[in-house]
Amino acid sequence: MNAIARPELCVFELAEMRTDVLRGLASKPKRLPSKYFYDARGSELFEQICAQPEYTLTRDELAIMRVHAHEIAAALGANVRLVEYGSGSGLKTRLLLRHLQTPAAYVPVEIARDALRASVAKLASEFPQIEMLPMCADFTQPVALPRAGRSAQRTVIYFPGSTLGNFDAHDSVRLLKQMRAEVGEGGAALIGIDLKRDRVTLEAAYNDAAGVTARFTLNMLARFNRELGANFDLSAFRHRARWNALAGRIETHLVSARAQSVRVANHTFHFEIDEAMLVEYSCKYSLEEFSALAARADLRVTRSWSDAQSRFSVVLLQPH
Ligand code: AVI
Repeated sequence: MNAIARPELCVFELAEMRTDVLRGLASKPKRLPSKYFYDARGSELFEQICAQPEYTLTRDELAIMRVHAHEIAAALGANVRLVEYGSGSGLKTRLLLRHLQTPAAYVPVEIARDALRASVAKLASEFPQIEMLPMCADFTQPVALPRAGRSAQRTVIYFPGSTLGNFDAHDSVRLLKQMRAEVGEGGAALIGIDLKRDRVTLEAAYNDAAGVTARFTLNMLARFNRELGANFDLSAFRHRARWNALAGRIETHLVSARAQSVRVANHTFHFEIDEAMLVEYSCKYSLEEFSALAARADLRVTRSWSDAQSRFSVVLLQPH
C-alpha cells in the first residue's frame, strides 16, 4: 500500500514510520513505538477497550469531569486559551469547554488530520462562540501554536486520558518542560493521570477477558503489513501485558510464538521463540510520585481532583 492510496497518510509520515520500525526492530531488545497503534482500526479498538469492564480509566476520568468540571473551570479562570494535546472530540473536552468562562480560543494539537478535522467540526457546531484554532502537528515536538484573535488571560494545556503515562520518565519530563515553556509563567497544565493500584487489577485492565486489548496490540503488526509491505504472521505473536512494580508501569510486549523471520521494507529480522518486543508503557503514579516528576520540569501540583475510589486524578500544574 502506498501513500497515494491512503490520502490521510502523507509520504513524510510513511517515511518516518518506516525509519522508526526499522530502527526499533534492529535494536536490542526490539521495541516499537506505541503511537503506531492508532490507525483507523486501532482507534476503533481503543474505543472498545475504553468500554471493557476491566479498563476503568476512561470512565473514572469522565466521572471526575462530570462532578468537578465546574470547579476545574473556575480554577483555570476566565479568558483562557485552551490548548489540547490530542484531538479532543470526547465528552471530557466538551464538559470543560461548557464550563469555561468566555474562553479566548480552543487549540487542539493532533497529528491525525482526519481525526482533527472531524473533532473540530463537531465542537465548532456545539460551541460557535469559541474561536477554534486546530493545529495539525505532533504535540511531542515544540511548534509555534496559533494565537487567539482576542487576547487571552492565560494559556492552559489540557492533556487528558493518562496519555502522559505512555512515555517513559525521561520523555515525560521533556514533554512537561515543553508544556511549561508553551504556557509561560502565568499559565497552567491540566493533566489526567492513572493512579497506582494492585497488580491483579492493573494487569486485568490490560488483559481484558474479551481479548480486545490483545487485538489492539496485534493490529499494529497488521498496520505495518498493510502500510510498509511487511509480512508479520499475526498468528505467530501473542500479546503480553505485565505490571512492573519497580518501574511503576504496565509493560506491553508482543511475544514471538516461534523462531521466525520477518521482512520489512527489504530488511529481514529474526525472532527467537518467546522473544518479547516492547510495544507500550502505561505508567501509573501516586500523587506524590507525580508531583516529583512535575518538579523535574519546574512545575508544581496546585490542585487535584480524584474519583470516589481514588483510581484516577486530574491534576493542575503551574510553574514554580
Ligand atoms: C492511551 N493510553 C493512555 C492507553 C493506556 O492505558 O496506556 C492505551 C492503551 N493501551 C492498552 N490499553 C489502553
